[in-house]
Amino acid sequence: METTHFSSSLLEDKNEADASIQNKETTYFYRKKVDGANQETERNKGEASKIEVRGLNLKIKNKVILNDINVKIPRNKITIILGPSGCGKTTLMKSMNRLTELYPEMNVKGEIFIDGEEILNSRRDVTEIRKQMGLLSQRPYPLPMSIYKNVAYGLKISGRLKKRFLDKRVEHYLRQASLWNEVKDRLRDPASGLSIGQQQRLCLARGLAVDPDIILADEPTSALDPISSQEIEKKFVELKNNYTIVMVTHILRQAARIADYVVFMYLGEVIEQGPANEFFNNPKTEITKAYLKGSIN
Ligand SMILES: Nc1ncnc2c1ncn2[C@@H]1O[C@H](COP(=O)(O)OP(=O)(O)O)[C@@H](O)[C@H]1O
Ligand SMILES: [Mg+2]
Repeated sequence: METTHFSSSLLEDKNEADASIQNKETTYFYRKKVDGANQETERNKGEASKIEVRGLNLKIKNKVILNDINVKIPRNKITIILGPSGCGKTTLMKSMNRLTELYPEMNVKGEIFIDGEEILNSRRDVTEIRKQMGLLSQRPYPLPMSIYKNVAYGLKISGRLKKRFLDKRVEHYLRQASLWNEVKDRLRDPASGLSIGQQQRLCLARGLAVDPDIILADEPTSALDPISSQEIEKKFVELKNNYTIVMVTHILRQAARIADYVVFMYLGEVIEQGPANEFFNNPKTEITKAYLKGSIN
């Protein structure tokens, strides 16, 4: 039977499977122990692009999932990876912090540079590479512990332990994620008691606490109500001064609201990329035009 098109019930199964995979990844990411001091590598801060993907190809059992992806992601901007469901956005994002390694069925080839340093084939500790990037997934996965400890956990895996220091930093990152005022009187309560929108901001605080300079967010508002979604969007616009933000979405209007730069994907390929203004006002390909008109989704 041909199974390229999902029926809606299959799609639900897939969403559940995705959720459990993301849970696995988040847990993996935060459980992996980091040892030793922060090994600052030589970073070429002069590079125009923060992240550059060159000739990335990804196959699963001979099925092409990503086909010769070449992408340049500018630093201190919001880059939106846009495209219809199933076009490879999540897989591209997973390649950027090598989460693809958790899937033995994925055959990945190509190069990814961060600050000019190749990371996909690098022999550097993968945890060190991942620490450069904070992750937000489609649904928030707070760790099964208190609000305070969720954020402190991010700090601890960066190797910082003193209590007074922790208190200050936990407050700092909760403020950065615009959550402090809502939780300051219940820091010791379990994170699971927060609303979904608050949990997502808590996950943002935890991600920031690892001190990354890139934020990778895969449809981070898809499980949120409109107000919480707006909070995340607003937050990203503030944070881009200090971080390079890469966000996946299939919501055109969201992209139009916050993107500085757009990478548009379709069926495993990058069709078009460039400054958001150009992308929305002067699309170059027929596929992009059709997508912007809403004829494909
Ligand atoms: N682990 C996997 N095993 C099999 N197929 C996968 C796996 N991960 C992704 N795919 C397939 O790769 C394609 C791209 O998926 P994905 O990157 O999740 O798309 P998007 O995020 O744009 O919706 C889809 O056809 C999806 O079914
Ligand atoms: Mg996806």
